[in-house]
Amino acid sequence: VTVTLFTPVQVGPHALANRVVMAPLTRCRAGAGGVPTVLNAEHYAQRATAGLIVAEATAVSAQAHGFPDAPGIYNQPQLEGWLGVTEAVHRGGGRIFCQLFHAGRMSVPALQPEGAVPVAPSAVAPRGDLWTAAGKVPLGVPRALETDEVEEIVESFRRAAEFARAAGFDGVEIHAANGYLVAQFLEDGSNRRTDEYGGTVENRIRFALEVTRAAVGVFGAARVGVRVSPGSPFNSMHDAKPGTLYPALAAALSPLGLAYLHGVEADLSNPGDFQMGNFGGAPNAITREMRRSFRGPYITAGGYDGPKAAAVLAAGEADLVAFGRGFIANPDLVRRLREGAPLNEVDFSTLYGGGARGYTDYPSL
Ligand SMILES: Cc1cc2nc3c(=O)[nH]c(=O)nc-3n(C[C@H](O)[C@H](O)[C@H](O)COP(=O)(O)O)c2cc1C
Repeated sequence: VTVTLFTPVQVGPHALANRVVMAPLTRCRAGAGGVPTVLNAEHYAQRATAGLIVAEATAVSAQAHGFPDAPGIYNQPQLEGWLGVTEAVHRGGGRIFCQLFHAGRMSVPALQPEGAVPVAPSAVAPRGDLWTAAGKVPLGVPRALETDEVEEIVESFRRAAEFARAAGFDGVEIHAANGYLVAQFLEDGSNRRTDEYGGTVENRIRFALEVTRAAVGVFGAARVGVRVSPGSPFNSMHDAKPGTLYPALAAALSPLGLAYLHGVEADLSNPGDFQMGNFGGAPNAITREMRRSFRGPYITAGGYDGPKAAAVLAAGEADLVAFGRGFIANPDLVRRLREGAPLNEVDFSTLYGGGARGYTDYPSL
């Protein structure tokens, strides 16, 4: 029998009704102090027919922030805000993981406690600007973390996982993709360290393994996933040998028995010209190799529509497919995919910040 988007699937302890995953989507609409609101709960509840929702990048500490008005999961008010979200999703029959996030060098002093310089594995600046409430701010040279500070950040991931569990999440996803802190440790363009967290592949994957194990210690492995974006140049990322690095990471994660591995599929044929639209819509050479090194469910993301998703599942190249922009504009994406119905277009002017417009007012069929 051919596997489709609507074939039920087991992910850890969760029997999912379908293989349509809502990709993590930062929308910069949390309340003051990074506390999720009733509006956020409504947004996620509207999308609860997804087999699994991965909630937006959520700061594991005050230092972890890299977007204005993005949520956190490191104090009691944030926990209570998220409880409203998870309860609303569960009432709708859905399941929701929290994406544990640290921005690393993709932040600016205006988003840091006491205006501190953002931290990273090494003092290597990303290119470009960061959008903040005060407009665009140039990204600067980050401060390289001391070894004992790295251990403190692992501990902040562990504490965040505890808050996430208390907030009713069904699991957590480690954000090791798209050029944020965990990815900055993985790739040699941003990691020039000479301690046990830098140099060899074994050393560069150490931080990712430690934060994953920290979350596993709280949730159990079957409720922890990891998201990576092999070969993607987004956020000034580069690695000399991603085809070695990412399979090595997958092989090291595999024996843990995780809920899933989640890959953002970069279009490797277009490496110098990465934009939001520049995703493969299929596994690439690196993620194919990575998946061979991992036993457990594989979620593929980036550039999928209904036919491409059907093809990747039928070929057995992935077990679930995540949709980002599709879910922004279509709360009932699952139904539309099932019926082959047309999709609403994304309004790019309302992606980040603001209120209900472009967030909870996209129409269902
Ligand atoms: C507005 C917006 C916000 C995003 N925020 C996140 C995020 O918080 N965490 C993450 O891992 N990826 C994030 N992404 C990437 C998406 O999860 C997804 O990988 C990407 O949009 C490609 O999938 P698509 O072609 O289905 O849109 C974001 C993408 C968009 C468009």
